[in-house]
Amino acid sequence: MTTATARAYPNIALVKYWGKQDEDLILPVAGSLSLTLDAFPTTTTVALDAATGTGTNTGIDTFSLNGAVASTDATGRVTRFLDRVRELAGSETRATVTSTNEAPTGAGLASSASGFAALATAAAAAYGLDLDRRDLSRLARRGSGSASRSLVDGLAVWHAGDDAHSYAEAVAGPDMRMVIVTVDTAQKAVSSRAAMRRTALTSPFFPAWISSTEESLAAMLEACAADDFTRVGRITESHALRMHAVIQSCDPPIRYLAPTSVAVFDAVAALREQGLEAYSTADAGPNVAVIVRPEQAEDLRDALAGFGSVRLVGAGDGARLIDAGA
Ligand code: PMV
Repeated sequence: MTTATARAYPNIALVKYWGKQDEDLILPVAGSLSLTLDAFPTTTTVALDAATGTGTNTGIDTFSLNGAVASTDATGRVTRFLDRVRELAGSETRATVTSTNEAPTGAGLASSASGFAALATAAAAAYGLDLDRRDLSRLARRGSGSASRSLVDGLAVWHAGDDAHSYAEAVAGPDMRMVIVTVDTAQKAVSSRAAMRRTALTSPFFPAWISSTEESLAAMLEACAADDFTRVGRITESHALRMHAVIQSCDPPIRYLAPTSVAVFDAVAALREQGLEAYSTADAGPNVAVIVRPEQAEDLRDALAGFGSVRLVGAGDGARLIDAGA
C-alpha cells in the first residue's frame, strides 16, 4: 500500500502529562489519563512519492495543512516522524502528507495529539508496517506524547516506563460529556515542548509534581474502576490546577491561563454549589474543558456560553484508517 488516509480525534487529559524523562523517545515522567473526544478531528493522507510520480530522489517530504504549505518547523517535525517510520519499514521513499484539522492549531486543543495519531496511523499503513494498536500508540508517542492516547477510544491511560511499555490503553470509567470553552484561538506563546523542558529544569516544585501525579493517577484509576464521577471530577480539577501551578513556578515563568480561563473555573465551582456537578481542566493554553454528567451537559453548555464559544462533546474513537488507498 502506498497511500493511506486516517482520522484521529484530540484527547483532553484528566491526569496531565507534563515533563519527559527521555526527550528523544518521549517517555513521560509519570503516567496520564485522558478522554478521546468525538469532535475536532484531524484527517491525514500519506502518499508515498513513488506512487504519485513525483520521484523518490527529491529528498524532501512535503506537508500541507488545511490547504496551505506548512511552515518549515511543522514540516521538519513531520519529516523527523516519517524518518522513524522509514527506519522501521526499511524504506527511503519520501512522502506527500496532506492534513486537515478541524480545531484551531496550537491553542491548547490538543491538535498535536490528533495530528500525530492520524499521521502515525496513515504513515504506518502507507509504508506497509503491520502494527497493532499498542505499537501504533508507541509510534504516535514519538511525534507528540499526548498523541499516544488518541489511538484509544474514550478513556485512555498512557503508561510511563521504557520504550516498550510506554503506550496507551483503554480504561472503563464513568460516562461523561465535556464542554469545551474556547476563550482564545491564538497560537500559544511558548510551545508545550519548550515549557515542559523549562519546568523540569527550573521549577523547584518539579519533583513534587512527579510524585503527586503518580498519586493522582492511582487515585483516578480507582475512581474510574468504581464508576465514581464525583471523584474523577475532583481529581481532574485539582490536578489541572497543580499542572498550571508548576508551570507558573518556572523561571522565567509561563502562564497559560487567561483571566477568562480563571473566570470559567470560578463559574464552574459556583455552578457546583447550585447542584450542577461539573469540573474544569485546561491544557497548555487558555481554553477550558469542563466534564459533566450526560444528563446535565446541555445545562452546563448553556451556563458557560457567555465566556467564549462553547462546544458540547462526548467520548470519541481512537485513530482509524478511513481509506487504505492503493
Ligand atoms: O503532547 P504534547 O507535547 O503536546 O503535550 C501535551 C501536554 C498537555 O496537553 C498540557 C497535557 C496532556 O496530558 O495532554
